Amino acid sequence: MSMSGRDEERCEQELGQLLDRSRLPQHVAIIMDGNGRWAQQRGLPRVEGHRQGAESLRTMVKACVEYGVPYLTAYAFSTENWKRPPDEVNKLMQLLVEYLYNELDELHANGVRLRGIGDIKGLPEQAQKALTEAERKTARNKRLCLNLALNYGGRSELVQAVRRLADDAVKGKINPDDIDESIVSSYLYTSGMPDPDLLIRPAGEFRVSNFLLWQIAYAEFWITPVLWPDFGRKEFLEALVEYQRRERRFGGLNVCSG
Ligand code: FPP
Repeated sequence: MSMSGRDEERCEQELGQLLDRSRLPQHVAIIMDGNGRWAQQRGLPRVEGHRQGAESLRTMVKACVEYGVPYLTAYAFSTENWKRPPDEVNKLMQLLVEYLYNELDELHANGVRLRGIGDIKGLPEQAQKALTEAERKTARNKRLCLNLALNYGGRSELVQAVRRLADDAVKGKINPDDIDESIVSSYLYTSGMPDPDLLIRPAGEFRVSNFLLWQIAYAEFWITPVLWPDFGRKEFLEALVEYQRRERRFGGLNVCSG
């Protein structure tokens, strides 16, 4: 049974009271999954699920700005998504361009910096153009960094990092003995950003799907059966509250004093 608008509002208020705003994740990553199933359940074309998914992303961006989460990374198109029928791929690219042009002013007004992460040169020219424009306009914004993972794959990110590292070593710019975790991190698309503390996976799948393989080493996972187009503020608050209940040990032990 679905909740009425008023119940949902009350639930959000209660969750909001449980949230400790001084212990928010600094970086939230989201695998936006379940758009196709959402559309199928309603007898709609798949693109309508993606369109509604773009609305959920809009809600999430606003919530991050409001609560003060400084980094949000959303998986919008993977290196594997090219295997989908050309019509769906084209519509997703169109949707991306629409999103970038329609949202740009509001993102900018809200202090959001937008960045594309992934093999951006492999995107259609129109999408690259819209992205470059959005990145340029929002480059100085500091409230929220919104990373859109586009033509992104965790393995391909590591391959490009290793190639550039090897190239710098051959050129003598870096000594192989000096390569450590922070240097590897600095060759990734997310260079200079904190690693995600929280990974949200809607649509009930228990997979990582080649997303931020290096960066999620210590991320807390929050998996929900809710499909991405139905994912709203209530679900986000639930994820944040649950995140704050977890004990994060990073491989060590938490020793109680006294
Ligand atoms: C996976 O759901 C989702 C995608 C491949 C695309 C995600 C894109 C969006 C949410 C909207 C576009 C983004 C922007 C920034 C405008 P699925 O289609 O695999 O769902 P299914 O598993 O139920 O079929």
